Amino acid sequence: MAVERTLSIIKPDAVAKNVIGKIYQRFEDAGLKIIAARMMHLSRNEAEGFYAVHRERPFFKDLVDFMISGPVMVQALEGEGAILKNRDLMGATDPKKAAPGTIRADFAASIDANAVHGSDAAETAAVEIAYFFPALNVYSR
Ligand code: TYD
Repeated sequence: MAVERTLSIIKPDAVAKNVIGKIYQRFEDAGLKIIAARMMHLSRNEAEGFYAVHRERPFFKDLVDFMISGPVMVQALEGEGAILKNRDLMGATDPKKAAPGTIRADFAASIDANAVHGSDAAETAAVEIAYFFPALNVYSR
């Protein structure tokens, strides 16, 4: 399997629950390396830009309001099959449907406050990593 990179965000609900370390442990135990990280409090503009693909969806405003409600921890992860591996660790979007032992099953309260984001494909991973870590290729290899 190819070594990939993916963009992960620990969302405001999980940061507020003080479980950044527990979530990082899951990445490391799965063989994913944290190759860049930034803790930040997103502006409305930054959150809207990040979720631009969802702009027309009914949940867009609530999603943006939630994403700017507190600090987030943003990281680029690298490893074999990193995109799917991270999606597996996260579990389904709706924590009620997430498999036991996944991050969302263990730490998320609802579909709109669901603890983590993870890129869903190689193309989105590249765009999302560049959104938060524009210089990553320069210093990581
Ligand atoms: P989506 O990309 O479908 O899910 P995922 O985060 O698993 O890739 O949706 C992005 C976020 O939008 C999701 O994490 C939470 C929010 N959302 C809602 O609030 N309500 C919804 O019905 C959906 C589908 C998503």
